[in-house]
Amino acid sequence: MLRRVAILANGGDVSGFNAVIRAIIKTAENNDVECYGFIDGYRGLLKNDYVRLCTHATGNAIGILPKGGSIIGSSTNANVFCYPVEENGKIVYKDLSEQCVENIKKDEFDCIFTLGGDGTQKSARDFTLRGVNVIGVPKTIDNDVACTEITFGYNTAVSVASDAIDRLHTTGETHHRIMVLEVMGRYAGWIALESAIAGGADVALIPEIPYNINKAAEKIINRKNRGKEFSIVVVAEGAKPIGGEMSVEAVRNRGKGVDNNKLGGAGQRVAKELQELTGLEARCTVLGYMQRGGTPTAFDRVLSTKYGAKAMELALEGKFNVLTVIKDGRLDYVPLEEVVGNNKEIGAVSGNTAESNIRRVNMDHDLVKTARHIGINLGD
Ligand code: F6P
Repeated sequence: MLRRVAILANGGDVSGFNAVIRAIIKTAENNDVECYGFIDGYRGLLKNDYVRLCTHATGNAIGILPKGGSIIGSSTNANVFCYPVEENGKIVYKDLSEQCVENIKKDEFDCIFTLGGDGTQKSARDFTLRGVNVIGVPKTIDNDVACTEITFGYNTAVSVASDAIDRLHTTGETHHRIMVLEVMGRYAGWIALESAIAGGADVALIPEIPYNINKAAEKIINRKNRGKEFSIVVVAEGAKPIGGEMSVEAVRNRGKGVDNNKLGGAGQRVAKELQELTGLEARCTVLGYMQRGGTPTAFDRVLSTKYGAKAMELALEGKFNVLTVIKDGRLDYVPLEEVVGNNKEIGAVSGNTAESNIRRVNMDHDLVKTARHIGINLGD
C-alpha cells in the first residue's frame, strides 16, 4: 500500500511546475497518501532535504495553480550519477546515487515523482535500476521529451514568443526593419516553428534544418520588392548554418552527462548576415527566460493537472518506472526504459546532450508542412 510519496522538480523551470505539484498532492490527499517535496530537485534528494506538502488550511501548497516557478525549487545540471565534489582542493566527479537511494529507503518513500526533461528522466530511469520506484512527468519548454506529443510548459513558452512576435511586428513595420527574435530550443525547434506560425513570421530557423542564409535573405528581398519593407525572423537558439556549428556563448564544466554548452548568439549572427545581404536594417531581440517564467496558460494548467493526477493514479495502481505521456491526444504512460532509447549506460550520458534520446521536429510534421504551405521560409 502506498503511504508516502515525494516529488522532485528538476532542470530549467517552466510555467506549470506548480500545477503538476498541486495535482499530485491533491490526488494523494484524496487517497490518504502523504506527499513530500525534495528541495531543488536531485540536489535535495542527495542532501535529504525535503518538506511535507499540503493543500489544506494553512498548507504550503495553497494558491499555486497560476504561480510560475516551482515552490520546491529545481536544479539544473545535477547529475547525481556523476556529481562534482571537492577533494583536496580539486573538483572530482563521483557517483552519489547510492546516497540518494539510502535517503529514499531510510525515510520510506514508496515512490518518487520526477518532474523534468530528458536529462531528469534519464536519471529517473537510472534510479529504477537501483531499485527505486519512480514515475516521471515530462517537462520542458523545448517540447523535446521522447515518447510524448507535448510537455508541460511548452504551450506557455509558445504563447510568450508569439506575443513577442506581435510586438516586433509593429515596431518592425514602422521602421522598415528586419526583426529577429531568438527563442529557446537547443536541439528541437518546436517553439520557433509554432510561434512563427502563431505570430505570422516570414522566416523560422530551427536546429533540425541547418540553414542557408541566402535563402532567408531571398525571402526577405522578395517581400521588399513587393512593397513589404519589414520582415520577422524567428531563430531557435540551437539553429546553425549548413556545415556550421551552434552558437555557443560559454562552456561550463559541470561534469559528464550534462549539457555543458551555454548557447547564445544565434539570433545576432542571423541579424548581422541578413542586414548585409538585404540592405535592410536588422535588430535582434533575445527572448530568453521570459519564456519560462510567469503564469501558465490555461492549456498548460490543464495539461499539468492531467499529468500530475495521472502520475498519482499510476502510483496508486503500483505502475512504477514509467513516464506519463500524451499519445494520440490522450493521457497514457510508457516505460522509462523506452524514453531513454539507446542511451542505456547508467549515468554516462544524461542531460540535454546531443546523444540523448529527444524528440526533434520531423520533416513530415503538420507544423513543418503548414509553415511551408503558407510561405514561411525555413532556411532551405
Ligand atoms: O532545456 C530547456 C532550456 O530552457 C533550453 O531551451 C535552454 O537552452 C536552457 O534550458 C537554458 O538553461 P539554463 O537555465 O541552464 O540557462
